[in-house]
Amino acid sequence: MGQSITFHKADQLKKKPDAGQLGFGKYFTDYMFEMDYTLEKGWHDPKIVPYGPISLDPAATIFHYGQEVFEGLKAYRAEDGRILLFRPNKNMERMNQSCARLNIPKIDEKFVVKAIKKLVAVEQDWIPNQPGQSLYIRPFIIGTDAALGVHPSSMYKLLIILSPVGSYFGNSMSPVKIYVEDEYVRAVKGGVGFAKTSGNYAASLKAQTKSEELGFDQVLWLDGVEHKYIEEVGSMNIFFKIDDEVWTPALNGSILPGVTRNSVIALLKHWGITVKEKRISVKKLFKKAEKQQLKEVFGTGTAAVISPVGFLKWEDHVIKVANGETGKLSKKLYDTLTGIQTGKQKDELGWTEEVKVEKEKVTE
Ligand code: COI
Repeated sequence: MGQSITFHKADQLKKKPDAGQLGFGKYFTDYMFEMDYTLEKGWHDPKIVPYGPISLDPAATIFHYGQEVFEGLKAYRAEDGRILLFRPNKNMERMNQSCARLNIPKIDEKFVVKAIKKLVAVEQDWIPNQPGQSLYIRPFIIGTDAALGVHPSSMYKLLIILSPVGSYFGNSMSPVKIYVEDEYVRAVKGGVGFAKTSGNYAASLKAQTKSEELGFDQVLWLDGVEHKYIEEVGSMNIFFKIDDEVWTPALNGSILPGVTRNSVIALLKHWGITVKEKRISVKKLFKKAEKQQLKEVFGTGTAAVISPVGFLKWEDHVIKVANGETGKLSKKLYDTLTGIQTGKQKDELGWTEEVKVEKEKVTE
């Protein structure tokens, strides 16, 4: 897709938020990327436009049948001033896997990475540079056909919005409390659990609210059939350090194939640590904890980065992990991953991509 991306200048730019107040996903930059799809033209008319509301027909399929996919990745400001993206191709690869499942036409992965780079280059002044901060990139596609018959849309919109963010959970390295959900389920095999699509998150909200009311941060989902096997946490994949090994649920069709999950597995293996991707029963996990073999628990995700887990509650059982503190391995993974992402550490696995502002210049 050799189309050129047009640029539409905003009349006024926003005041940037205080670096200390960022939180997660509360502020949005001055511009966004937009591109449309029709059966006749395919993906067309890529443009960078002022950030703002979009106009859609009230009958648009996204409002009624939820035909949507999204992604989450980040741009980082390195100490030497470079702008780095972390494995953007992996996110685009996953976006196409989600598109395939949601019956959405595929994107040109390379072109969308190019669009991300151009948008980030335009918004470079929005990239925060304090430790733990970054510019969160949210590409998403929605079905826009105005029709109420249940059918795949024939028209779509791809948008990319940007948000300067700090840590997802208030304090990045303070361990979170997780509630093992045994009533509701997130996904079943054959469903859309592996796809990054809004419905998975809509279906999670009831349980998330319940866990918060009980004093927890997030829910740990069990499998949808037997309610026995561990799948993932609300906004992250989950890892367990059992003695000297690290275990994580194997991808089985109902678990999100996280880019951070994949990177953590690669890093651990690179360090010579045995990683087992396997079916893990919650009962077995709690037995391991009883026998003092469960040394650390941590979640992984673009938003969550590496998030240590301090408490787990399942039925009447409660585990305090690593004394409720951040374990050594979780800390090492956090430091290494964020070190690579922000250019502080050598990128031995070739994961970062630089956004060269000059090269990405767009004209009106
Ligand atoms: C991410 O980690 O990028 C996510 O999409 C998780 C989330 C905030 C839903």
